[in-house]
Amino acid sequence: MTEAVNTPDVAQYLLTVYPLTEHEVRKQLEETVKKDYEKCVVAEVDGDPAGYVGLHLEQGRTRHIGWLGIWVRRQYWGQGVGTALMEKFIHMAKAHGCRKLMLDAFEGNERALKLYRKIGFKIESKVVKRSYIDGKWRSGIVMSLELASLEPRIDSLPKQKIAPKVEKELSEFKVRQLMNMDLDELNKLQNCVESTKSSTRIPPVSKEKTKEWYESLNTQLGKFCFGCFKSKRMLGYLQFNAAPPPFIFIDVREFIVDIKESPVTVANLLVKALVDFKKRYIYRQITCEIPITSTILAQALEQNGFIKTGTWKGYYFIDGYYVDAVSYLHS
Ligand SMILES: CC(C)(COP(=O)(O)OP(=O)(O)OC[C@H]1O[C@@H](n2cnc3c(N)ncnc32)[C@H](O)[C@@H]1OP(=O)(O)O)[C@@H](O)C(=O)NCCC(=O)NCCS
Repeated sequence: MTEAVNTPDVAQYLLTVYPLTEHEVRKQLEETVKKDYEKCVVAEVDGDPAGYVGLHLEQGRTRHIGWLGIWVRRQYWGQGVGTALMEKFIHMAKAHGCRKLMLDAFEGNERALKLYRKIGFKIESKVVKRSYIDGKWRSGIVMSLELASLEPRIDSLPKQKIAPKVEKELSEFKVRQLMNMDLDELNKLQNCVESTKSSTRIPPVSKEKTKEWYESLNTQLGKFCFGCFKSKRMLGYLQFNAAPPPFIFIDVREFIVDIKESPVTVANLLVKALVDFKKRYIYRQITCEIPITSTILAQALEQNGFIKTGTWKGYYFIDGYYVDAVSYLHS
């Protein structure tokens, strides 16, 4: 497997940077098989490992979604191994209750795109300049396949009762990194049923889980978070992952604001801080998906230069309804 993922023909289309050592590949696999939301299968040809397929099961409000990861060793290409792995993948996904399958591919990976189209996958969004490999920019393509109906659907939730107001006194707000003393405030926010509807998070969240989440942040691994505070009160946070080169993009993973207190200002300040972070370093792109119903976040993204790149149909499941995700890009 180590040899396979270090072969340039294969590695150029994966979201890893090669060369990887054998102990790194082993560690990754050991960690993968321990997680109940990761499933994987290898293909063998006469006892020789020929390919791999992984299913990542999403959690919380997107728990009906499964993501694909696949590769076949170079010498076995074009012999049906990829097709067999895809069939296995779909079987696994059905067995785990997935209603929709998604994947992230690179433009120009014709062999893979042909395979996905053959199975029935369709394009949902496209991000230009997703990676820079071998002197070329490559666009990213998100594709999906529905396994079961995503009904009932809804495009908007009941209007929020509190009218969002824009604060004049911005100096009262502070965007900064999270600290140990913020844990209670963080837990309160993660337990706010209305505010968390902009994310995949479903309350209740125990104090232990909040602490575990906070301690999983790791800037060395590209996992960052900004919090927005008004005196000691935490009014929102934005967690994002900054991918290692050559994938010079940032992915927003979670964006929550307290809808009862200055949500417009808080969302705006958090997005501004994120855009500044991107400018400070080498990053070229920020991608962000939010429920179509999260109008306050949408406004903050659009005011700060984000543009829509597509819609991921029925990506969230909120209050008994499937809700589309709008995918945004800042480049
Ligand atoms: C994409 C990949 C998994 C396909 O595996 P594979 O074992 O070659 O796939 P198969 O032999 O089952 O062929 C699948 C389809 O690919 C297409 N295909 C085969 N040869 C092709 C070629 N030379 N050019 C374009 N498409 C081709 C055909 O549509 C074929 O279906 P068909 O045989 O029914 O016509 C493999 O090429 C690979 O590992 N690529 C590098 C890693 C990668 O890109 N992973 C996906 C990241 S999103």
